[in-house]
Parts: sequence; C-alpha cells; structure tokens
Amino acid sequence: RPLLDPLPPLPALWASVGFSIFAFLAAFYLIPALGPTFVKANLKGKDLLKVYSDPIPESQGLVCASIYILLLILFIPFPFSTSVANLSGSGSKAEGLQGTAFLHHELSVYLSSLLSLLMATLLGFLDDVFDIRWRHKLPIPLIAAIPLLMVYYAEGGNTHVVVPLPLRPFLGLLVNLGPLYYLYMSLLSTFTTNSINILAGINGSEVSQALIIAISVIINDLLYLPLPFDFRIPLHLLGNQTEVEVGGAWHAGMAYGSSELVARHLFSLYFMLPLVGVCLGFMYHNWYPARAFPGDTLCYVTGMAFSVVGIQAHFSKTLLLFFIPQIFNFLLSCPQLFGIVPCPRHRVPRFDPDTNLLHPSKTIFDKKPPTKLASVTLHVLATLGLTQLTVDPTSGVVVDATNLTILNFLLLRLGPMNEKRLVQVLMCTQVAGSILAFTIRYGLAGLLYDG
Ligand code: UD1
Ligand code: MG
Repeated sequence: RPLLDPLPPLPALWASVGFSIFAFLAAFYLIPALGPTFVKANLKGKDLLKVYSDPIPESQGLVCASIYILLLILFIPFPFSTSVANLSGSGSKAEGLQGTAFLHHELSVYLSSLLSLLMATLLGFLDDVFDIRWRHKLPIPLIAAIPLLMVYYAEGGNTHVVVPLPLRPFLGLLVNLGPLYYLYMSLLSTFTTNSINILAGINGSEVSQALIIAISVIINDLLYLPLPFDFRIPLHLLGNQTEVEVGGAWHAGMAYGSSELVARHLFSLYFMLPLVGVCLGFMYHNWYPARAFPGDTLCYVTGMAFSVVGIQAHFSKTLLLFFIPQIFNFLLSCPQLFGIVPCPRHRVPRFDPDTNLLHPSKTIFDKKPPTKLASVTLHVLATLGLTQLTVDPTSGVVVDATNLTILNFLLLRLGPMNEKRLVQVLMCTQVAGSILAFTIRYGLAGLLYDG
C-alpha cells in the first residue's frame, strides 16, 4: 500500500454527518406538518392499492429536495474553508497558486452539482403538477447534465476506457470514446432520474430504492478513505481500473490514497450522507400505509444526486452496478415504454380488497389486436417467464398480458402477496443487487482487468 496522504479534512466530514442528522429530523417533522398545505394546493393523490380514498399529500419529495439542497448550500463553507486554512499555511507561492486553482476547481464541481440538482427538482415538480409527456421530459435531464459535463471537460476529463483483457489483442490497452463518452454520461442522468420513477407505485418503493443505492455509494466511498477506522479495500482488488476511473490522471498513475482520489470520494460522501438523512425521515411517513407520497420530484432529485456523484467522483460504471434492479425493470419495460405493447397510465399491481393481496396487473388488447411485433415480443417474454399471457384458444391471438415491470414480475414468480411484503421483497432485491455489484466490482473485475 503506497504512502498515504494526511487524513482528509475530518471536521468537514463530521459536519456532514451532523447535517445529515439534521436532514433526517427536518424531513421527519416537516413532511407531516406540511401535508395539509400540499393537499390544499391540490397536490394530492389517491392510494391506488387501498380500500379508502382519503387524499394523500403528493410530491412531498419537494420538501425533501428543499431540505437537501438548502443543507448542501449551508454546508459549502465547511470543506472549503478548511482547505483555504490549509493553503494559507506553509508552502511556496507557486504551491499556493496551485492550491487555489484546485480549490476553485473543487468549488465549481460542487456548484455545478447543485445546479443540476435544482434543475432536477424543477423538472420533477413540473411533472407532478402538469404530468409532462415522455417525449417532452426526456431531454431535460440531458440539458441538466451539461454543467456537470463541462466541469468534467474543463479538468481534462478522461474519455478513455480500459479494454478488458480478452479484447486487448484487437483493441489495445485503451480505447478513446471521445464525444461518445459525454453522450454516455448525459444519458446516465436521464437513466438514473427516470429509472426510479418507473419502478414506483407501491408504498415506500421510490424512497427505499434511493436509500439503498445511497448507502451502497457511501460504503463504496469509505473503501477509498484513510479514516481512523481504516477498512479500505486492499489495493490489489482495485486492479488497474481505479486509475482509469479516476479520469485524466490515469497515465500519471494516480496513487491509491492520493489526495485527489480522497477528495473525490469525500465529495461523494458530502452529497450522499444528507440524502440518506432526508430519505430516512421521509420513509417513515411513506411506509405502508403511506401518509405521504414522494411524487416525481423525489425520484428526479435522488436520481440526479446519483448521477452527480457518479460523474463528478468518476465512478459512473460502479454506480450503474448499483442500479441492477432498475436496469432490469427498464429493459423489461421497453416494449411498453416504446409503444410496442400498450402502456396503461398506471402499471402498478392489481389490488384485491377481499384478500388484501396484490396480483400482477394486465395490459388488455381491447382496442385493437396486437401487432405481429407485439405478439412475438410477448411470446418471447412469456417463454422467459417474464410475463403471463392470456391467449384466445380459437384464434391464438394474445388477449392480455401482465404489465412489464419488476413488481408484476415478482408477483408472478413469487405469487400474490400484500403491499408491505412486496416492498420488502423489492428492498431485498435492491440489497442483493448491491452485494452483486460489490462482487463484480472488487471480485470479478480482476478476471477481466489486470491488477
Ligand atoms: C409511473 C409509472 C406508472 C405507475 C406510477 C406509480 C411507468 C411508465 N409509469 O408513472 O406505471 O403506475 O409511476 O407511481 O412505469 N401511488 C400509489 N401508491 C404509492 C405511490 C403512488 O397509489 O405508493 C399512485 C398515487 O395515485 C399517486 C400516483 O401513483 O398519485 C403517482 O403517479 P405518478 O408518479 O404521477 O406516475 P408516473 O411517474 O407518471
Ligand atoms: Mg412518478
């Protein structure tokens, strides 16, 4: 293990922990307190999977986003003033100038991240109020990502990827993806924001996904930090990839434990810790039976927070590994999202009030029979056990199919269950996904990349 830099600015890290506790308390108290105000402003929804129809305050993710962003702004002086104090200490003038440039850079990373989060909040809230069409809202996260990408570019952002060992004889050690890499990063923000939103509709589903992904990112960050309780990952498990993931400095051989690598993972912690705080506070009220709904605002703002840390702290590929259930849900949803199979307004499971159990919901071909492409797609998915079809026995035409979401898939495979159990199963899936992600990242990566 190479020599370590001095400890990271721990006071800032402790401040961040303090802010996160405050974030939890603020969400915990403000969500119920502001509920009636939201209902009065007509921000309310009916719980689709209950017998009662009391209005539930909707888009309370706005409260979470406001607490989160305000605390992130209040936090700015903590990491940055410590760094300034360190800079004005010893060292030559040249070192001082270099340090100031570094500080400016760090600050621009932080501020551009806030800008993207604000854009996501705005988009999410507008979507809650106006129910924006898919084709109109899809490009907005792309635009919201531009500040992030420019900051990445300004620091001489690396667009090379390391070629896995088996492909090296053909492609060499590195491939420069150039503009394609920027396209990939901007699509990342579209994916993270929307993928949580389409894995939704049962109490606690949206917020629990965000919570588990945020905790996974935090664990991953701690693996890189020389903390007093040092449980960093052994160097050989990181392989060569780290040096590539850390961007422009790969060829300079960014040392493990280097101050830049530490700074990136600290940055990620500063954004993830308060997110865990607000999510926990909100989750208490969103847990079955929900007394508050997240709305699209929570989905967009949490999704954008993940893109921000993935891009700015240079671990977007590791981040995507934490989205395994969302990737599965997105791929499964594609035939409905892209109009091959009809997509009803709500694809949430069907609620049976007599038994209090959830069953897979269906899309019904009552308007027009399925096209050739739709039938083939559905038959393939049914063979794979991903959907269940009802086929007209005489004509052989598909009459209906279960909606293509992971929630319906779980109900199909595990049988009907109540809403609370389903959200628990979903959470277990997310945790299992994260365990798999860590195994791939630190266990299997060694097979594809040299250490
Ligand atoms: C997405 C899904 C949609 C799903 C909906 C549920 C796609 C393409 N879209 O749409 O299939 O039905 O989310 O959120 O997959 N609700 C509950 N219980 C909850 C949370 C929400 O009943 O725990 C209902 C409430 O009526 C609430 C509504 O869902 O008002 C919110 O739906 P909205 O977020 O507007 O749906 P979309 O994000 O457009
Ligand atoms: Mg939604």
